Amino acid sequence: MSLFATKPLEALLKDAGHETLHRTLGPAQLVALGIGAIIGAGLFVRTADAIAQRSGPSVTLAFILAGLGCAFAGLCYAEFASMIPVAGSAYTYSYMTMGELVAWIIGWDLVLEYAVGAATVAISWSQYFNKVLEYISPGLSVPYQWSHSPFETQMGTGVRGLINVPAIGILLLLTLLLIRGTRESAFINSLIVVAKVSIVIIVIFVGWGFMNPVNHTPYIPAATTYTTPEGVTHDYGGIMGILGAAGVVFFAFIGFDAVSTTAQEAKNPKRDMPIGILGSLVVCTLLYVVFAHVLSGVATVEDFRTAGKEASVAYAISKYMTGYAWLAKLVTVAILAGFSSVILVMLFGQSRVFYSMSADGLVPKVFSDVHPKYKTPWKSNLLFFAFTALFAAFLPEDIVGEMTSIGTLFAFILVCAGVWILRVRRPELERAFKAPVLPFTAIMGIVVCGAMIYGLGWTNWARLAGWMVIGLVIYFAYSRKHSITRNS
Ligand code: ALA
Repeated sequence: MSLFATKPLEALLKDAGHETLHRTLGPAQLVALGIGAIIGAGLFVRTADAIAQRSGPSVTLAFILAGLGCAFAGLCYAEFASMIPVAGSAYTYSYMTMGELVAWIIGWDLVLEYAVGAATVAISWSQYFNKVLEYISPGLSVPYQWSHSPFETQMGTGVRGLINVPAIGILLLLTLLLIRGTRESAFINSLIVVAKVSIVIIVIFVGWGFMNPVNHTPYIPAATTYTTPEGVTHDYGGIMGILGAAGVVFFAFIGFDAVSTTAQEAKNPKRDMPIGILGSLVVCTLLYVVFAHVLSGVATVEDFRTAGKEASVAYAISKYMTGYAWLAKLVTVAILAGFSSVILVMLFGQSRVFYSMSADGLVPKVFSDVHPKYKTPWKSNLLFFAFTALFAAFLPEDIVGEMTSIGTLFAFILVCAGVWILRVRRPELERAFKAPVLPFTAIMGIVVCGAMIYGLGWTNWARLAGWMVIGLVIYFAYSRKHSITRNS
C-alpha cells in the first residue's frame, strides 16, 4: 500500500460503533469543555509576553488576527467533526483525506499542541502558585531554583533555576483525576469555567478605569528588535511584531479543537460538535481583545519585561489598581483553578488522539489499553504525565509555549487543506455542518495560520522541523510496519 493510503470513512464509522468509551457529553458540556480548554495561560501569561517581547499594546490586533485564523480553521474543523463522529481530532480526519503519512505527521504534531501545551500551562500554573503562597504569608514561596527551569535566572539575585517542582505536581494531580473518569472531570470543569469567565469580565470592568493613555501611545510601536533574558532576539513593533505576537497569543485559542477529540464521548456528535467548537471560539475572541486592551493600558511594556514578567495579571492589578488588592488575590486563585481545567482538557485530548493512533497500530497498544473499572486509557495517561513533566520541569514557559503554537498552527493548515480535499474527492458524503464559501475559508485559514508561523521566527521553525524529523524516524522505523490499515 502507498504512503498515501487513506482509511475509508466507512471503516471509521464502523469503528465508532464498537465504542469502548462512555457517551456522556451534551452540547452545553461541550461548549464548557471548549471554554475550559481555551481560556488559560494564553490570556493570563502569554499576553504579557507578547506585549513585552513582540508588539506592545498592538497585541489586541494580534488577537484579532489569531482569532480570525482560528475562525477559518474552526469552520473547517467543525465540518470534519460533524461528518466523522469518532475520537481523534485532526489525526482521524487526515487519515481519511490525505493518507497515513500525513495522518501520522498530524498526530505527531498534536503532541506539541496537547502535551507540550499542557506543560506550558503547568509552568504558568507554577508562577501563579507562588503568588498564592505569597498572599498566604508574605515571603513564603517555592525557592526560585525549585520553581524554574535551568534556562532561567532570577533578575537581581542571579539565582539559576534547577527544576520546576510545582509544575510537575499539578500535572500529576490532574493525571490521576483523568484516570478516574470523564464524567467527574467534566463536572468540575463546568464550575471552573464559570469562575474563569467571571474573572475575565470583572478585570475588564474594573481595569477599564485604570488605563493610562500613555501606555497605549504609540499603539503600534516602531519596528525594532527585542532580546529576551535567555538571549533570543525577536522582531518588536511594526507589522512583524504583530505577526509574531499573533503567533504567541494564538496559544490562547488552542483548545477549541480539543472539543472534536471527544466526538466518541458526545451524545449527539453530528449536531453538538460544531456548536461546541464555534460557540466556545466566538465567546473567547470577544473577551480576549477587550482584556488585552485593558491589560496593556494598565501596565507598561517595561513592567512585563521585568518584575511583572511572571504572574503578570496579578502584578498589574497589585501595582496599578489601588484599592483592589482583593481582586489580585481572587484573580490568582481563579487563574490557578482555570489553568487546571486547561491542563485537564489538554491531557484528555492527548490521550484520546493516541488512543486512536494506537487502535490504528501506529503507536503501541499500551496507548489504547482501557482501565477495567474507570474505562479510561490510564496507561497512556501515565506515560503522558512523564512526558509533559519533563518539558514542564526543565524548559522555560516561552519556549514551550511557542513550540505549542507553531505545532498547532501547522496542524490547522493541514486540517484546512484536508477539508477542501475531501469536498473535492468525496462530495457525496453527508455533512451535518458545511464550512461556508469553501475553498475561500480553507485558503484563508492556510494563509493566516501561515503568516503566524512566519511571524514566530526561525528559532521556532527549527524546533518544529526537529520535532518532525524525530516523528518521521519513528514512523518509518515502527508505525509503517505495525499499521493495521496498511497490513490488512
Ligand atoms: N488556550 C489554552 C490556554 O491559553 C491552551 O491556556
